[in-house]
Amino acid sequence: ETTKTTDLYSKAQAAANYIRNKTPLLPSLGIILGSGLGNFATHVKSATRIPYADIPHFPQSTVVGHSGHLVLGTIAGVSVAVMQGRVHAYEGYSMDQVTFPTRVLGLLGCKTLIVTNAAGGIRTNLAQGSIVAISDHINLTGTNAALGPNEPRFAMVPGAGQRFFDMSTAYSLRLRTLAIEEAARQEFLLTEGVYLAVVGPSFETPAEIRAFRALGADLVGMSTVHEVIVARHMGLEVLGLSLVTNMAAGVPAYGEEKADTIDHEDVMEIGRNAEKQFTCLLTALIPQIAAE
Ligand code: 6GU
Repeated sequence: ETTKTTDLYSKAQAAANYIRNKTPLLPSLGIILGSGLGNFATHVKSATRIPYADIPHFPQSTVVGHSGHLVLGTIAGVSVAVMQGRVHAYEGYSMDQVTFPTRVLGLLGCKTLIVTNAAGGIRTNLAQGSIVAISDHINLTGTNAALGPNEPRFAMVPGAGQRFFDMSTAYSLRLRTLAIEEAARQEFLLTEGVYLAVVGPSFETPAEIRAFRALGADLVGMSTVHEVIVARHMGLEVLGLSLVTNMAAGVPAYGEEKADTIDHEDVMEIGRNAEKQFTCLLTALIPQIAAE
């Protein structure tokens, strides 16, 4: 039994203890906000905002559009911990760093994780600005966040924390169904899709996108899969939501002949426009998720 403060579990405990000393709130739900979606954190009531820089061992984002605060409070009466901004492997962070906040959310008591991201649309009938519920993923980042010695102390529910763990139900059918039904109530169509992750930071070539489509991918992005792997190792229930900020390379927008080029500004702008729909969906969904 190792108790070195250099080990990942102890570091995550130190971060969780720091956060517990800032607020008595015990979050049951964790939310990770992707590019352009960070504004959702302003909807948290009775918020305690903690800069990542203050939390022991917490990695800090270098990307525009990722603000870097952990916000604890309530949404529709549910205790939540919201990560306003995340770090990515393309910034040079290790898998342990990328998934460190997810570990901490688990240790804080979150039993459910909502992971969000900005993604490129591969499926031709996806509209820019639409939200998609992730049904499954393809990890083409070339690595895995659970690499290294297994740490069974990260099991947050009985049976979790195994060396080899199931990923066949990584994206909870229950949560996806709640999301799709709530979207229908709000009169918009929430489709499901397979999210394929690359390491980035370059966007893909058109040939890569054709290959990814042949592999069964509907969406492409540079995040999420590692956080989901770690969350499943801990036994958390996961909902993944992608905002389609642009079509992937070589994919024309629906009804258009020709494909556009892709830039990060578009990603941010579409995020701002879709924000209302995203906020309404999540706000209605959160109490339903917690009701189980
Ligand atoms: Cl087209 N590709 C990747 N990898 N990530 C994205 C994207 C595309 N659009 C938004 N995020």
